[in-house]
Amino acid sequence: MLAGATGGVGSQVAKQLSSSGAIVYITGRDSKKLEEVALQAGIPANRAFQMDISNEESVNQVVSQVLAQTPFIHTLINATGIGIIKTMDTLDSASFEKVLQVNLIGAFYLVKAVLPNMKEQKKGLIINIPGVLGKVPMSGAAAYSASKYGLVGMMQSIREELKRTEIRITNIFLGGIDSAFWDNIDLRVQRDKMIIAEEAAKAIWFLCQQPSSGVVSEMVLQPFNHQAI
Ligand SMILES: NC(=O)c1ccc[n+]([C@@H]2O[C@H](COP(=O)([O-])OP(=O)(O)OC[C@H]3O[C@@H](n4cnc5c(N)ncnc54)[C@H](OP(=O)(O)O)[C@@H]3O)[C@@H](O)[C@H]2O)c1
Repeated sequence: MLAGATGGVGSQVAKQLSSSGAIVYITGRDSKKLEEVALQAGIPANRAFQMDISNEESVNQVVSQVLAQTPFIHTLINATGIGIIKTMDTLDSASFEKVLQVNLIGAFYLVKAVLPNMKEQKKGLIINIPGVLGKVPMSGAAAYSASKYGLVGMMQSIREELKRTEIRITNIFLGGIDSAFWDNIDLRVQRDKMIIAEEAAKAIWFLCQQPSSGVVSEMVLQPFNHQAI
């Protein structure tokens, strides 16, 4: 199951997984974009679900609909996320809460909804994308980094809970990726120096191919050049 399939990274992950033969269930908030991604990735319409990750009812409903079609969710990839990059002078509490609601609390809803099924199987793979701002701070990233550091801490704690199962938890720390993520961020960056979404998706595809006797707990993929101007 792939959440955020309508995004720059998610849409590429959808294509790569589907073309390698996986049965992929995709979700996105924007139903029109979702339809397009499904079409381009060759995913049947009944495997594409409109979902708002910040709404627990929406998340639970979609996970139930997926489970009505398949007994097991083997892999959960969460490629949803929003970025608000503002310094404390302009960052208001509504924006702070919104970022946490999508990037952290939404991720909690999703993992909480899928985990019972994985526990039943005693195996599974959960991939989240904290990004490097889940590992290192940046000026203006108080809200975003709070959500992504929180995501890392949450997933690392869940990993401890799951030690007696074969449920693998992977956090991928991606540097700047050229996607719509940057469209509304008021920061001078060189998008042509960023990682191409297709290449970021290849790294996620690679994570999905790993044999189950081990786990890639963390992966860091950074752009080769500096992106800040
Ligand atoms: N781009 C970067 O430089 C970068 C770097 C490091 C980490 N990341 C992380 O990588 C992930 C993917 O980023 P991206 O570059 O692909 O961003 P993107 O192109 O902006 O895509 C974001 C995705 O999140 C979905 N989304 C946003 N709010 C949602 C909500 N309330 N409910 C459900 N879905 C929601 C969007 O859905 P709709 O389009 O349908 O609204 C879209 O599918 C995010 O977690 C991001 O934080 C990005």
